[in-house]
Amino acid sequence: MDQSKTPVFDGLLEYSRKQAFSFHVPGHKDGVVFPDKASRFFNPLLSLDATEVADLDDLYHPTGILRDGEALLSDYYGTRSSFFLVNGSTVGNLAMVMAACEPGDVVLVQRDSHKSVFNALKLSGVRPVFLAPSVDPASGLAVGIDPEAWETAIRRFPQAKALILTYPNYYGIAPDIRRLIDQAHSHGLAVLVDEAHGPHFKMGLPVPPSTLDMGADLVVHSAHKMLPAMTMGAFLHVNSLRVPEEKVAAARETLQTSSPSYVIMASLDLARYYMANMSPNKQKDILDRRNRFAEALKEIPEIKVIEPNPGSFLLDPFKITLELETAGSGFDWQDRLIETGIYPELADPHHVLFVLGLTARIDYGEALIRIRQSLGNAHGRPIKRFAEDLFPRCAALDFPYSKLSKMPVKEIKLEEAAGRIAAEHVIPYPPGIPALVQGERITEKRVQAIVAWKKAGAVFQNESTNHGRIKVYLAGE
Ligand SMILES: Cc1ncc(COP(=O)(O)O)c(C=O)c1O
Repeated sequence: MDQSKTPVFDGLLEYSRKQAFSFHVPGHKDGVVFPDKASRFFNPLLSLDATEVADLDDLYHPTGILRDGEALLSDYYGTRSSFFLVNGSTVGNLAMVMAACEPGDVVLVQRDSHKSVFNALKLSGVRPVFLAPSVDPASGLAVGIDPEAWETAIRRFPQAKALILTYPNYYGIAPDIRRLIDQAHSHGLAVLVDEAHGPHFKMGLPVPPSTLDMGADLVVHSAHKMLPAMTMGAFLHVNSLRVPEEKVAAARETLQTSSPSYVIMASLDLARYYMANMSPNKQKDILDRRNRFAEALKEIPEIKVIEPNPGSFLLDPFKITLELETAGSGFDWQDRLIETGIYPELADPHHVLFVLGLTARIDYGEALIRIRQSLGNAHGRPIKRFAEDLFPRCAALDFPYSKLSKMPVKEIKLEEAAGRIAAEHVIPYPPGIPALVQGERITEKRVQAIVAWKKAGAVFQNESTNHGRIKVYLAGE
């Protein structure tokens, strides 16, 4: 197909040129009705912020510009079919699970998943079995499902219908999961992959491969995270016939708005165009610029750049994880970076993560000066790493979601929570990976780890834990 085309963007421009009067929604009337103080900033986009009028096609029954844009998307990624999403990978994860699973199905799920995966499990009424990740001893970061957890799970739960994976993780860690996907297929499982952080994985080495090329059945991409797409723009790919395409279509339509943003969809069309037309020379320039920045960071004595471990995992070169060699937690360092005007993607107790753009246009010279400045007065307390045995290797929830939803809930002190069942997710924010999943039994070790993270400055997505408390189910009390 002709990847130099941008049908959605072109169609919007044509609409904007043709339209003399708007007698339809949205209420801003192409920017004419808008507060004066903001119109200068919003107007160029408001003229393109159309809705599904005659020429502009229909996201759920596309026959025009959206059909053409999605066909080009599918062609670029080499899928059976690919779709625009306007509510991020969040809605993609919900749709994947809803399409692939029936209520009551046993589903194997990587323990370090995003909260949207956990919400998908609950909404679909499936019976999850959580598989713990292995931990890289050098960095303390999770590196995908522990092979032993997988062996145990498939032996204990041969009736499982699907395997839900996250690849790469937030830090760009991408283990080789080709064999795992093959094994899951040989046991009859559909493989659903939250590849939110890997929409650029078609670039080729040193960028890790996409699971679309490893045979995953359904794959979600947050185009807005790594590609030049607008926030909330994402892709959902169907890569096999294992999950019926009608079910995927029905789930997308059920879960998404009936007024999808054309500005977001045009940006998705342009993001695909940007990637598909990136010449080998441009790609080399982008990587060279990135490598020079990484090499300069390595020369700063107070920090260490996390490296790939070829025997265990590849690393997305556009995610740079930095570890402090001196005293101080990642949270403290992040605060000092922000004081100098540098906003990282995230901090955890040990690291700060930078996400780089897919361009050779950004000069990192000034950033390097400020990074050095921010390291001048390291303070804060270093804390212990999350121990690998913090989570059980392979565990189902004690109660199905249908029973949990009927149990009364009480908020108690964190220190008194061991032995209870968590009635909420406890997710350090960022990176959005749960320390406790709703429905899990709370262990003393987990309580201690959460308390330690809190002391180190972590903020949790649930308010109660920020106040040293947690909501628990009163199971059988
Ligand atoms: C691994 C992972 N999956 C899914 C999501 C949700 O993506 P989105 O923000 O596009 O809804 C995130 C967001 O941070 C994530 O890190």
